[in-house]
Amino acid sequence: MPDALCEPTAAGPLAQYRAMEDATLAARIEGVRRRMGERLVILGHHYQQDGVIAHADITGDSYQLSVSAAAREACEAIVFCGVHFMAETADILVNRPEKLAARGGRRVTVVLPDMAAGCSMADMAAIEQVEDAWADMGEVIDTDEITPVTYINSAASLKAFCGRHGGIVCTSSNARAVLEWAFAQRRRVLFFPDQHLGRNTARTMGIPLEEMCVWNPLAAAAGGELGGVARDQFEKSRVILWQGHCSVHAMFRPEHVDAVREAVPGVKVLVHPECSMEVVDKADLAGSTSYIIKQVEAAPAGTSWAIGTEMHLVKRLEQQHPEQTIRFLSPVVCMCATMYRIDLAHLCWSLEHLEAGGPVNVIHVDEETAAWSTTALERMLAVS
Ligand code: 13P
Ligand code: SF4
Repeated sequence: MPDALCEPTAAGPLAQYRAMEDATLAARIEGVRRRMGERLVILGHHYQQDGVIAHADITGDSYQLSVSAAAREACEAIVFCGVHFMAETADILVNRPEKLAARGGRRVTVVLPDMAAGCSMADMAAIEQVEDAWADMGEVIDTDEITPVTYINSAASLKAFCGRHGGIVCTSSNARAVLEWAFAQRRRVLFFPDQHLGRNTARTMGIPLEEMCVWNPLAAAAGGELGGVARDQFEKSRVILWQGHCSVHAMFRPEHVDAVREAVPGVKVLVHPECSMEVVDKADLAGSTSYIIKQVEAAPAGTSWAIGTEMHLVKRLEQQHPEQTIRFLSPVVCMCATMYRIDLAHLCWSLEHLEAGGPVNVIHVDEETAAWSTTALERMLAVS
């Protein structure tokens, strides 16, 4: 029998959930999972805190979670313990027209337990800025020469922009395959919002820095020509990078790599490609969150690692692999504060409202945006 729903109080909609012990919240969450069974799927990104991951049906990186969302047409609801763009992507993929038709028009409800769980990187590229940049670029070169590529860490409106303009979406685990696809279509790429993933990936393909430039949307807004890029540099650029970054991965510095190598001879430095080129160049290995996990799982006992990615994942790897020595690459805490907003109180609150038939924090991308985003996402799924 369901626990009685806690009603909002003057202290806010979650006040009564926040006052509960973690053990109580965990038991209530498991109660909803048991009663809803296969009608409910809880997805958890690798950066989630352990207490939340313990209740996830599937954990993964951005790519794996989007693939699982695309395949989950049989369930009634997805509760996404990640950030806003991930829940949007799940909604787009699971509620595509053909999936809806196969379910007789029934939508899968997609819930983000805390609407404030955003992504600082995604916020660095707004659709108006991208549209303005495209128009400015069109004054100098033919935009039919450019394939727009958006990192999945972006709003649905940007994915739709890519869909409309012959472009595509990528994640950190398929960025290279996607860029190869993009260059097979046209000779230039506009890559947003993460300059680092774009630059690091383009370099693995042998594209020199001289053939890249960084478009600064703020310079463009302040009247600076061509996003602050000199015209001759812009004209010779095959990769136009957007000046955006992840505030978590920007905290790893090349000097951290030097310091750990000095302190721990033989250490293997393993980082996420959202780190700067200077950090990636000094590291031994770079790859998505799943790649990082696989490297650690496959390594012989006694391996020493310094890992440069979000703290919750590194801490979990440290606990799960006592046979290896795992340390955090940075001396300071680097955590995704927005992902961390999803806690047991938000999860329990959203699950109980979902079960009671009055879901909160439903993510529903409008039809037109969803249709064009689907075009760009399906191109990605076909490539990787
Ligand atoms: P992946 O899950 O693709 O490794 O990306 C990390 C990330 O920053 C998600 O927001
Ligand atoms: Fe966004 Fe960085 Fe958090 Fe990933 S880790 S969700 S890119 S802020």
